[in-house]
Amino acid sequence: MNIVVVGPGSIGTLWAYKLKQAGHKVSIQSRVDGDTLSLTINDQRPVTLPNNHLRQIADADLILVTLKAWQVSSALNQIRSHIAPEAMILLLHNGMGTAESVSQVFSSNPILLGTTTHGAFQPQKHHSKHVGLGQTLIGAHNHQALQCGFIADVLNHALPECIWQNNIQSALWNKLATNCAINPLTALHNIRNGALSEMQYQETLDQIVLEVSQVMACEGFAVAQQALRQQVDSVIEKTAENYSSMQQDIFYQRPTEIDFISGYLLNCARKHSIETPANQKLYTAIKQIENIGSCS
Ligand code: PAF
Repeated sequence: MNIVVVGPGSIGTLWAYKLKQAGHKVSIQSRVDGDTLSLTINDQRPVTLPNNHLRQIADADLILVTLKAWQVSSALNQIRSHIAPEAMILLLHNGMGTAESVSQVFSSNPILLGTTTHGAFQPQKHHSKHVGLGQTLIGAHNHQALQCGFIADVLNHALPECIWQNNIQSALWNKLATNCAINPLTALHNIRNGALSEMQYQETLDQIVLEVSQVMACEGFAVAQQALRQQVDSVIEKTAENYSSMQQDIFYQRPTEIDFISGYLLNCARKHSIETPANQKLYTAIKQIENIGSCS
């Protein structure tokens, strides 16, 4: 397949490398100048891929967008006129809410959404360390994408395990719950994920999860609060040594995904008139830090 990976961060680099290894024609769309990019994962041999080739975008069967949620719309708008109307667009990022605006602009394209638990970080640019084997779930956002289940097989062949979901929204909401609980708290306290198992955070975690489960129920994704809490605890345990993406963003004074994580939750809660004080408090605190950063 002709595949363009938009955003060669840690997860984008991992996918681009694995898809190239699996025999696909892969190119990169990035903010970096240069006709080619050399990517590598772990200690493997680098691969050199075309970078920012408009022809490759026009020929793409699949556009895999691995940018942060807040970057997605503007990046896709910049290459909008080059994307074929039948090209599949797969959005793979933390948080929710981008698909609505993307599907308005790309009204004829099949839009797919995904979430992954692969662990990767970038010790240096264009070099990803694949530190935790995970699972990628993908599914259709619009009716054009309902026939795209085969993409899960393509991705599964390149980087297992990838599973097609008939209801990807449910998987995304579950991931959102984990991100609402772990990301802002670890960022505010500047701690590793594992520190959240300490006594002092339990009441806040309970409250966050309760609020998310109430919103999920009203959105049609009812899940027991206890099950959601266990899921959060299990991620805290499995990723105990890691810093969350939001901790890293705050630490390095980069914009965070808060508007697409807690912010998305708060918008849905408002729609259903649900009180969400714990999530609101974390949202406000992260926004304050972001705003101080952008003024300094
Ligand atoms: O954003 C992150 O860091 C990850 O999604 C997660 C699951 C919180 C683990 O660190």
